[in-house]
Amino acid sequence: MRALVISDLHSNASALRAVFKRVRRKSFHEIVCLGDFVGYGAEPNQVLDLMRTARQKKYYIRGNHDRVAAGLDDGRTFNAPAREAAFWTRDHLSGPNRKFVQKLTVGPVDHAGVLLCHGSPYDEDEYVFTESHAAQILDSFDARLILYGHTHLPVIFSMDEHGLVAGMLVRGEATFHLDPARRYLINPGSVGQPRDRNPNASCAILNTERMTVQFLRVPYDIRKTQETILRAGLPRILADRLAMGT
Ligand SMILES: [Fe+2]
Repeated sequence: MRALVISDLHSNASALRAVFKRVRRKSFHEIVCLGDFVGYGAEPNQVLDLMRTARQKKYYIRGNHDRVAAGLDDGRTFNAPAREAAFWTRDHLSGPNRKFVQKLTVGPVDHAGVLLCHGSPYDEDEYVFTESHAAQILDSFDARLILYGHTHLPVIFSMDEHGLVAGMLVRGEATFHLDPARRYLINPGSVGQPRDRNPNASCAILNTERMTVQFLRVPYDIRKTQETILRAGLPRILADRLAMGT
Protein backbone atom coordinates (compact mmCIF):
# COMPACT_ATOMS: atom_id res chain seq x y z
CA MET A 1 0.00 0.00 0.00
CA ARG A 2 1.24 3.43 -0.91
CA ALA A 3 -1.30 5.88 0.43
CA LEU A 4 -1.76 9.50 1.26
CA VAL A 5 -3.26 9.34 4.76
CA ILE A 6 -5.33 12.32 5.84
CA SER A 7 -7.86 13.07 8.54
CA ASP A 8 -9.91 15.86 10.07
CA LEU A 9 -10.16 18.07 7.00
CA HIS A 10 -12.90 20.08 8.70
CA SER A 11 -14.19 21.98 5.69
CA ASN A 12 -10.85 23.71 5.12
CA ALA A 13 -10.43 23.68 1.32
CA SER A 14 -7.31 25.89 1.23
CA ALA A 15 -5.50 23.48 3.53
CA LEU A 16 -6.63 20.46 1.52
CA ARG A 17 -5.58 22.03 -1.80
CA ALA A 18 -2.16 22.86 -0.32
CA VAL A 19 -1.76 19.23 0.81
CA PHE A 20 -2.72 17.89 -2.62
CA LYS A 21 -0.26 20.29 -4.26
CA ARG A 22 2.53 19.31 -1.89
CA VAL A 23 2.15 15.56 -2.53
CA ARG A 24 1.59 15.88 -6.30
CA ARG A 25 4.96 14.35 -7.13
CA LYS A 26 4.95 11.78 -4.35
CA SER A 27 4.35 8.17 -5.14
CA PHE A 28 0.96 7.00 -3.86
CA HIS A 29 -2.07 5.54 -5.56
CA GLU A 30 -4.59 5.59 -2.76
CA ILE A 31 -6.11 8.18 -0.48
CA VAL A 32 -7.07 7.05 2.99
CA CYS A 33 -9.27 9.53 4.86
CA LEU A 34 -10.04 8.84 8.50
CA GLY A 35 -13.07 11.07 8.80
CA ASP A 36 -14.26 14.54 9.75
CA PHE A 37 -14.38 15.80 6.21
CA VAL A 38 -16.61 18.61 7.43
CA GLY A 39 -17.41 20.64 10.54
CA TYR A 40 -15.83 23.83 11.99
CA GLY A 41 -14.97 25.40 8.62
CA ALA A 42 -17.12 27.09 5.98
CA GLU A 43 -16.09 25.18 2.83
CA PRO A 44 -17.75 21.78 3.19
CA ASN A 45 -18.81 21.49 -0.44
CA GLN A 46 -15.40 22.48 -1.79
CA VAL A 47 -13.71 19.88 0.42
CA LEU A 48 -16.21 17.14 -0.41
CA ASP A 49 -16.07 17.90 -4.14
CA LEU A 50 -12.26 17.62 -4.05
CA MET A 51 -12.38 14.37 -2.09
CA ARG A 52 -15.13 12.79 -4.19
CA THR A 53 -13.38 13.57 -7.46
CA ALA A 54 -9.80 12.62 -6.49
CA ARG A 55 -8.47 10.25 -9.12
CA GLN A 56 -6.76 7.85 -6.70
CA LYS A 57 -8.47 4.87 -5.11
CA LYS A 58 -10.42 6.04 -2.10
CA TYR A 59 -10.69 4.45 1.32
CA TYR A 60 -12.79 6.87 3.31
CA ILE A 61 -14.48 6.47 6.65
CA ARG A 62 -16.83 8.66 8.63
CA GLY A 63 -15.97 10.98 11.53
CA ASN A 64 -18.20 12.24 14.33
CA HIS A 65 -18.66 15.67 12.69
CA ASP A 66 -19.68 13.99 9.43
CA ARG A 67 -22.30 12.03 11.38
CA VAL A 68 -23.85 15.20 12.81
CA ALA A 69 -23.62 17.14 9.52
CA ALA A 70 -25.31 14.20 7.78
CA GLY A 71 -28.27 14.53 10.15
CA LEU A 72 -27.65 11.11 11.72
CA ASP A 73 -26.97 12.54 15.19
CA ASP A 74 -28.25 15.67 16.97
CA GLY A 75 -24.77 16.79 18.12
CA ARG A 76 -25.74 17.04 21.77
CA THR A 77 -22.25 15.93 22.85
CA PHE A 78 -20.63 18.79 20.90
CA ASN A 79 -19.62 22.11 22.41
CA ALA A 80 -21.63 25.11 21.21
CA PRO A 81 -19.35 26.34 18.37
CA ALA A 82 -18.87 22.80 17.02
CA ARG A 83 -22.62 22.17 17.08
CA GLU A 84 -23.36 25.49 15.41
CA ALA A 85 -20.87 24.67 12.63
CA ALA A 86 -22.28 21.16 12.18
CA PHE A 87 -25.84 22.51 11.85
CA TRP A 88 -24.64 25.23 9.47
CA THR A 89 -22.94 22.50 7.41
CA ARG A 90 -26.13 20.42 7.41
CA ASP A 91 -27.99 23.40 5.92
CA HIS A 92 -25.37 24.14 3.27
CA LEU A 93 -24.42 20.75 1.81
CA SER A 94 -25.19 20.19 -1.86
CA GLY A 95 -27.44 17.22 -2.66
CA PRO A 96 -24.59 14.94 -3.83
CA ASN A 97 -22.43 15.90 -0.84
CA ARG A 98 -25.26 15.28 1.65
CA LYS A 99 -25.70 11.81 0.17
CA PHE A 100 -21.95 11.24 0.30
CA VAL A 101 -21.66 12.05 4.03
CA GLN A 102 -24.79 10.06 4.84
CA LYS A 103 -23.30 7.00 3.17
CA LEU A 104 -19.75 7.23 4.51
CA THR A 105 -18.53 3.92 5.90
CA VAL A 106 -18.35 3.67 9.66
CA GLY A 107 -15.00 2.44 10.97
CA PRO A 108 -13.21 0.32 11.86
CA VAL A 109 -12.48 -0.93 8.37
CA ASP A 110 -9.79 -3.41 7.46
CA HIS A 111 -7.92 -2.30 4.36
CA ALA A 112 -5.24 -4.78 3.26
CA GLY A 113 -4.37 -5.64 6.86
CA VAL A 114 -4.39 -2.01 7.98
CA LEU A 115 -7.22 -1.04 10.31
CA LEU A 116 -8.81 2.37 9.66
CA CYS A 117 -10.81 4.20 12.29
CA HIS A 118 -11.75 7.74 13.26
CA GLY A 119 -11.48 7.83 17.07
CA SER A 120 -10.51 4.30 18.05
CA PRO A 121 -11.46 0.87 16.71
CA TYR A 122 -13.95 0.66 19.59
CA ASP A 123 -15.68 3.95 19.09
CA GLU A 124 -15.82 6.73 16.50
CA ASP A 125 -15.92 9.29 19.33
CA GLU A 126 -13.11 7.97 21.51
CA TYR A 127 -9.92 10.04 21.85
CA VAL A 128 -6.60 8.18 22.02
CA PHE A 129 -3.98 10.26 23.80
CA THR A 130 -2.06 7.98 26.16
CA GLU A 131 0.32 5.04 25.88
CA SER A 132 -1.85 2.93 28.19
CA HIS A 133 -4.87 3.53 25.98
CA ALA A 134 -2.83 2.72 22.86
CA ALA A 135 -1.57 -0.48 24.55
CA GLN A 136 -5.14 -1.55 25.32
CA ILE A 137 -6.10 -1.06 21.67
CA LEU A 138 -3.02 -2.80 20.25
CA ASP A 139 -3.72 -5.69 22.65
CA SER A 140 -7.28 -6.05 21.48
CA PHE A 141 -6.80 -5.85 17.72
CA ASP A 142 -4.23 -7.87 15.82
CA ALA A 143 -3.71 -5.57 12.84
CA ARG A 144 -0.05 -4.71 12.33
CA LEU A 145 -1.01 -1.13 11.69
CA ILE A 146 -3.97 0.90 12.95
CA LEU A 147 -4.59 4.35 11.51
CA TYR A 148 -6.74 6.79 13.47
CA GLY A 149 -7.61 10.48 13.65
CA HIS A 150 -9.93 12.58 15.85
CA THR A 151 -7.32 14.05 18.23
CA HIS A 152 -5.82 16.31 15.53
CA LEU A 153 -2.33 15.37 16.75
CA PRO A 154 0.31 13.65 14.56
CA VAL A 155 1.39 10.70 16.68
CA ILE A 156 3.06 7.30 16.45
CA PHE A 157 2.56 4.63 19.10
CA SER A 158 4.50 1.41 18.69
CA MET A 159 4.28 -1.88 20.56
CA ASP A 160 7.33 -4.16 20.72
CA GLU A 161 7.32 -7.97 20.88
CA HIS A 162 7.10 -7.82 24.69
CA GLY A 163 3.95 -5.70 24.59
CA LEU A 164 5.67 -2.48 25.65
CA VAL A 165 4.18 0.63 24.07
CA ALA A 166 6.01 3.88 23.37
CA GLY A 167 4.33 6.93 21.88
CA MET A 168 5.55 10.20 20.47
CA LEU A 169 4.09 13.39 19.11
CA VAL A 170 5.65 14.00 15.72
CA ARG A 171 7.03 17.52 15.56
CA GLY A 172 7.39 19.02 12.09
CA GLU A 173 8.28 16.80 9.15
CA ALA A 174 9.82 13.38 9.69
CA THR A 175 10.12 9.97 8.05
CA PHE A 176 9.96 6.82 10.16
CA HIS A 177 11.04 3.32 9.20
CA LEU A 178 8.55 0.85 10.61
CA ASP A 179 10.05 -2.16 12.35
CA PRO A 180 8.44 -5.43 11.15
CA ALA A 181 8.75 -6.76 14.72
CA ARG A 182 6.52 -3.98 16.05
CA ARG A 183 2.87 -3.02 15.67
CA TYR A 184 1.77 0.57 15.27
CA LEU A 185 -1.04 2.99 15.99
CA ILE A 186 -0.55 6.07 13.81
CA ASN A 187 -2.38 9.39 13.54
CA PRO A 188 -1.52 11.61 10.54
CA GLY A 189 -2.68 14.75 12.37
CA SER A 190 -5.30 17.13 11.02
CA VAL A 191 -5.40 18.79 7.60
CA GLY A 192 -7.94 21.44 8.47
CA GLN A 193 -7.54 22.20 12.15
CA PRO A 194 -4.21 21.11 13.70
CA ARG A 195 -4.05 21.20 17.51
CA ASP A 196 -0.34 20.76 18.21
CA ARG A 197 0.37 24.52 18.12
CA ASN A 198 1.69 24.18 14.58
CA PRO A 199 -0.97 25.72 12.32
CA ASN A 200 0.31 24.06 9.13
CA ALA A 201 -1.81 21.29 7.63
CA SER A 202 -0.69 17.82 8.67
CA CYS A 203 -0.72 14.61 6.61
CA ALA A 204 1.27 11.42 6.10
CA ILE A 205 2.35 9.14 3.29
CA LEU A 206 2.36 5.48 4.19
CA ASN A 207 4.31 2.94 2.17
CA THR A 208 3.79 -0.59 3.49
CA GLU A 209 6.14 -2.07 0.88
CA ARG A 210 9.09 0.01 2.08
CA MET A 211 7.66 0.13 5.62
CA THR A 212 7.92 3.88 5.89
CA VAL A 213 5.63 6.63 7.06
CA GLN A 214 6.43 10.20 6.14
CA PHE A 215 4.78 13.05 8.05
CA LEU A 216 4.43 16.35 6.23
CA ARG A 217 3.42 19.85 7.37
CA VAL A 218 2.06 22.13 4.72
CA PRO A 219 1.58 25.90 5.02
CA TYR A 220 -1.55 27.35 3.47
CA ASP A 221 -3.43 30.65 3.37
CA ILE A 222 -4.86 30.64 6.91
CA ARG A 223 -6.21 34.18 6.65
CA LYS A 224 -8.28 33.24 3.61
CA THR A 225 -9.83 30.30 5.48
CA GLN A 226 -10.51 32.52 8.51
CA GLU A 227 -12.29 35.03 6.28
CA THR A 228 -14.57 32.33 4.83
CA ILE A 229 -15.50 31.28 8.39
CA LEU A 230 -16.29 34.82 9.50
CA ARG A 231 -18.14 35.67 6.30
CA ALA A 232 -20.34 32.61 6.82
CA GLY A 233 -21.26 33.94 10.26
CA LEU A 234 -19.69 31.02 12.10
CA PRO A 235 -18.25 31.57 15.62
CA ARG A 236 -15.05 33.65 15.65
CA ILE A 237 -13.27 31.13 17.88
CA LEU A 238 -13.26 28.63 15.00
CA ALA A 239 -11.26 31.12 12.91
CA ASP A 240 -8.97 32.16 15.78
CA ARG A 241 -7.97 28.58 16.56
CA LEU A 242 -6.65 28.04 13.04
CA ALA A 243 -3.93 30.65 13.48
CA MET A 244 -2.93 29.26 16.87
CA GLY A 245 -2.95 25.62 15.86
CA THR A 246 -5.14 24.71 18.83
FE1 LIG B 1 -12.04 16.21 14.05
